[in-house]
Amino acid sequence: MTKAKHVAIIMDGNGRWAKKRHLPRAMGHKKGVEAVRKVVRAAKDLGLEALTLYAFSTENWRRSEEEIGALMGLMKAFIIADLDEFAANNVRLRIIGDYKAFPADLVKLIEGALERTAGNVGTTLAVALNYGSQDEIARAATKAAGKGPITPETIAAELDTAGMPPLDLLIRTSGEVRLSNFLLWQAAYAEMLFVDTLWPDFTPEHLAQALEQFVDRERRYGGR
Ligand code: IPE
Ligand code: IPE
Ligand code: MG
Repeated sequence: MTKAKHVAIIMDGNGRWAKKRHLPRAMGHKKGVEAVRKVVRAAKDLGLEALTLYAFSTENWRRSEEEIGALMGLMKAFIIADLDEFAANNVRLRIIGDYKAFPADLVKLIEGALERTAGNVGTTLAVALNYGSQDEIARAATKAAGKGPITPETIAAELDTAGMPPLDLLIRTSGEVRLSNFLLWQAAYAEMLFVDTLWPDFTPEHLAQALEQFVDRERRYGGR
């Protein structure tokens, strides 16, 4: 019986949530941000050390300009509206992925938020922005190669998640059963949970339930 320390979520299904209601996709993303807000609070209340959220993949640039613009706008609004709460609640923000590819005003907001929460030692909220696991591993391997022989440890030390607790539980919402280039390395021994709930409908209760299920799973790491 161990408690999960690090949970990651592939927040999927915003578009389908909107479609079911005959709303534009952006409305699904807007509702998705509300779910993020509640789940981050819950992660803190449940005592998680780290929560990693997949917000924008290296492949999401293939979406329409309109949808990408809506997502960027929501990211900005989220940082502006929620930074005070993170700061007050000892939440440390971290970004995985190459976020510097985003527009300069968003990069500036992100960096301000990173700086402001850098001293916080409560829950770490890692947001995956312009993140792709293959890109992350390639970047890490390049850095590791410059420093000597490559081993799993030297690569892990250069990943965007370096220093975070090992990934315990990976959740994907919306019924899709794939990783979509998320945390491929880190998920080596993570437990996986695929739920049908669309992300905007995902609640703190769903997270609490997922953590309860995790406690009952027997992890073997190849040994007996
Ligand atoms: C997840 O929801 C959010 C992002 C990828 C940014 P989707 O937008 O992928 O929603 P579906 O999969 O089309 O329902
Ligand atoms: C993964 O979801 C990316 C995020 C949740 C940010 P996608 O909806 O982009 O993944 P695919 O295209 O269904 O694999
Ligand atoms: Mg999707």
